[in-house]
Amino acid sequence: MLILGIETSCDETAAAILEGSDAGEARILAERIASQIDIHARFGGVVPEIASREHLAALPPMVNAVMDEAAVDWEKLDMIAVTAGPGLMGALLVGISYARAAGLVNDIPVMPVHHMQAHLFAPGLGQRLPDFPFITLLVSGGHTMLIRVDDVGRFHLLGQTLDDAAGECFDKSARLLGLPYPGGPAIAQLAQGGNPRRFPLPRPMLNRDDLNFSFSGLKTAVMHTVRKIPDIERKPEDMSDLAASIEAAIADVLVAKSVRACEQQDVPRLVMAGGVAANTCLREQFETKAEVLGLDVFMPDLKYCTDNAAMIAYSAFLQNQAGDTIPDEWDAKPRWPLSK
Ligand code: KG4
Ligand code: ZN
Repeated sequence: MLILGIETSCDETAAAILEGSDAGEARILAERIASQIDIHARFGGVVPEIASREHLAALPPMVNAVMDEAAVDWEKLDMIAVTAGPGLMGALLVGISYARAAGLVNDIPVMPVHHMQAHLFAPGLGQRLPDFPFITLLVSGGHTMLIRVDDVGRFHLLGQTLDDAAGECFDKSARLLGLPYPGGPAIAQLAQGGNPRRFPLPRPMLNRDDLNFSFSGLKTAVMHTVRKIPDIERKPEDMSDLAASIEAAIADVLVAKSVRACEQQDVPRLVMAGGVAANTCLREQFETKAEVLGLDVFMPDLKYCTDNAAMIAYSAFLQNQAGDTIPDEWDAKPRWPLSK
């Protein structure tokens, strides 16, 4: 089957064409992403109204481009998959309105896709998904969750952040260091060659048995640390050491809690997905720890960690294969819990 995937939930406009076989194999025939990061960076974060306008301009020519590249026309498409939430209301509505109009005119069903479910299954793109059940650490700009996945659509929330998400902690810490938005890649770049043990930052909630996270205290500790280094001493190596220390503190907590989830649930398969999963230091720590403990670790290719439309089409494909039907009525859901 051929699926057009559309993603407009935040600051990336994306479209992709997926070809799926009855045997469950999926192949991406064409994909495009237009990032709005340069536009929002001036404001230090995503401006919802601007995001909607940019999606509106970027999406129609992008869909034409992926259809051309994949040599697919509307008659051949079996399904349109579109992010229905969670995300920014106006931004979601651009993708949904486009998908609905195209579906209506061309008589193609439109499947609403949960953005975080799509992140969660992204390791299946170009690689293979672990057998069920598996544990997933979902780490993005707005979410930090540990989830037990028993099947497509069968999720059990094991823990989540009580305040800031891991990506948010990267973004806010970056701002304190005077780095541009988005903060994750900026901190990761600055951290290269830095000493992660130079600044003793807290590892919040590490010693608690539960699987929840809290990152706002770490952000506050970063603020105090920045204040303690006078301007005159903010040498490049100070900033690099601080970035490395922040990265290490976040990674330590994420890795420890994910491993604990696997142990508590007695499930030796671990997936890490979402924008923060693009962090090299975190990926390395996951792999090292998993090897020591005999866990199988699955992570999406770097380009499928951050927002993209291939994962939206792939999630719809998996849902379709699992026998999910499209609800009669559905709408944009800016807030949409994953676990039922
Ligand atoms: O999944 P995503 O693209 O969008 C959401 O659904 O939120 O995640 C964006 C988040 C941002 O907070 C960004 O700073 C973070 O992912 N991020 C990273 C890296 N690349 C993106 N964080 C750490 N290291 C990275 N390399
Ligand atoms: Zn995302």
